[in-house]
Amino acid sequence: MSLKDAATAVRFNAYAPYSNFKVGAALRGKGGAIYTGVNVENVAYPEGTCAEAGAIAAMIADGETEIAEAFVIADSPFPVSPCGGCRQKLAEFSGPEAKVTLATTAGLEQTVTIADLLPGAFTAAYMEPTE
Ligand code: THU
Repeated sequence: MSLKDAATAVRFNAYAPYSNFKVGAALRGKGGAIYTGVNVENVAYPEGTCAEAGAIAAMIADGETEIAEAFVIADSPFPVSPCGGCRQKLAEFSGPEAKVTLATTAGLEQTVTIADLLPGAFTAAYMEPTE
């Protein structure tokens, strides 16, 4: 199955009764398997989680730690843009050149890299002591 098909299919299971904005995400791990996630909202709004976070949790639970490629889709006028927190979460498990395709249910797609999404990312390199 393609990442696009996986993200498109799983999106229908999103739980988004408050925003009515369903998002589907699919990741391909370095080992080749596909992991999917959806946004899961909560009546206590800040407790909601994004589709990308769900897909990352499924990947990590399976023992995979490297994202080769990602696909995110929503019913949006423009290819859906991962939020700031999700950009940092994706970067934790991706190289800067990993591709992320942003898509709309109407068929618009834009493929970018992790480095495009999060320029100047905070990485472990910043934590090297200098004294
Ligand atoms: N959302 C995602 O799941 N992923 C994104 O990339 C953008 C936003 C969700 C969070 C919330 O449930 C809804 O979309 C509206 O912000």
